[in-house]
Amino acid sequence: MAYRDLRSYLAALEERGKLKRVRKEVDKDWEIAAVCRQLFYKIAPAKRPALMFERIKGFNIPLVAGVLGASREIYAIGLETDTVEGINRKWDQALEKPIPPRIVKSGPCKENILMGDKVDIRKLPVPIWTVGEDPGPFFTSPYVITKDPETGVRNVGTYRMEVKGPNKTGFLIGKVQDAAWHVKKNDDQNKPTPVAVVIGADPSIGYVSVSKMSETLDEFAVAGGLRGEPVELVPCETVPLEVPATAEIVLEGEIPANARELEGPFGEYTGYMGPAGQHPFFVIKCMTFRNNPIYQAFISQRPPSESSCIRGIGREWPLFKHLKYVLNLPVRGVRLKEAGGSGAYVVVSLKKQFEGQVKQTMYGIWSLRSGFGKITVVVDDDIDVWDDFAIDWALSWRVRPDRDVYIERDIQAVGLDPSQAPPSVPQHHPSRVVGSRVAIDATRKHEYPAISLPPKEHLDKVAAQWKEYGIED
Ligand SMILES: Cc1cc2nc3c(=O)[nH]c(=O)nc-3n(C[C@H](O)[C@H](O)[C@H](O)COP(=O)(O)O)c2cc1C
Repeated sequence: MAYRDLRSYLAALEERGKLKRVRKEVDKDWEIAAVCRQLFYKIAPAKRPALMFERIKGFNIPLVAGVLGASREIYAIGLETDTVEGINRKWDQALEKPIPPRIVKSGPCKENILMGDKVDIRKLPVPIWTVGEDPGPFFTSPYVITKDPETGVRNVGTYRMEVKGPNKTGFLIGKVQDAAWHVKKNDDQNKPTPVAVVIGADPSIGYVSVSKMSETLDEFAVAGGLRGEPVELVPCETVPLEVPATAEIVLEGEIPANARELEGPFGEYTGYMGPAGQHPFFVIKCMTFRNNPIYQAFISQRPPSESSCIRGIGREWPLFKHLKYVLNLPVRGVRLKEAGGSGAYVVVSLKKQFEGQVKQTMYGIWSLRSGFGKITVVVDDDIDVWDDFAIDWALSWRVRPDRDVYIERDIQAVGLDPSQAPPSVPQHHPSRVVGSRVAIDATRKHEYPAISLPPKEHLDKVAAQWKEYGIED
């Protein structure tokens, strides 16, 4: 049975030892970020739990972090499976057979309704993430719901929100994002964009919120496909939008037409501060929430992080399918390395059939609008894309730099890439729009000598009788 809400999912995580409760009182303005960072430094992914901070100084709402992606194991539990293959199957099923949401009259998210002046988002324990650099607290896990004003198709996306007052936040919505188009279409008609923001919901909604899919798909239907049951939606109180009935917290309001304000800077998924700039903002008219609501945050900033984990998983499989089944390239493995925020650095393994296929592969990756692969490495299929040492070995001995390195100039850049421009240059400045990419062909281009290792049968034999050598207890 699908998780009904964030709470039932947290119970499932706790049952598997994947949720730890922090009972010590913590300060949201410095301590939560530091604890989350140490969680990634101190605990290897396979053992790393998600966290619930139960006592936050000055607040009576607990905060959970890492619950969608402190590790790949946790992501799998979120999708009620236990392997990467299981995750991929769930995504296939969701995209092939989306299940439309069901509209219901009411739900737990309406247990408390605050209108107008009563709204005060400063009562939520929104942390400061990069202390001394961020201008204040930021929501990192908002599920931002908008509708295409022309087609009416719903979208859910995660775009950072800077707390700017009791009923106001900033937004950073990248130019390629679906919501950016909704705002633009409304701006062109000088109309405000209705927005609903969900904090805390069943995990399928978070996974679609951070994943790219066709703008013609209702992302709640994809979430339904992921969980195997329709998402129940309730109409908002003040805007013509619908939100999950079991959401923990909902903020309703609008982005005023053609209005911009200073937003940022913010410690970003690249591991550097993202620049401040003039951006749309969100005016909140109504806040609804469950009794004893739970606040959810994504752990982001310098990778590895929850952000790089969930981005990577949601993107690798679609990229693999695009290369293999749309472009018919003999691709064996695709990895978006977390150091590159699961986007900038791509490794692909190929059972190369003829010279030239490496270039087809690199252009196949570069042609996607998501801007993947500023650094693209293509290896042979004997190299495991998950083995860093093997990748470095291929780069060291299968590359002749004067022949095997391709640089593509004047191609779409990632605006938050700190190598594009200094911090004083705002986010959507032209110098951040166009950049360059490099591909390294680390495949063999001619016959290679034998590999200098003991024969496989000798290694297998020794492995089978390893204990007899008395080397390890
Ligand atoms: C933790 C986290 C924070 C993110 N913050 C932003 C953001 O501030 N702005 C943005 O444009 N994309 C951000 N993204 C990426 C988008 O959520 C992602 O591209 C998603 O596909 C956007 O939804 P859309 O495709 O429906 O537009 C973030 C992703 C994660 C995992």
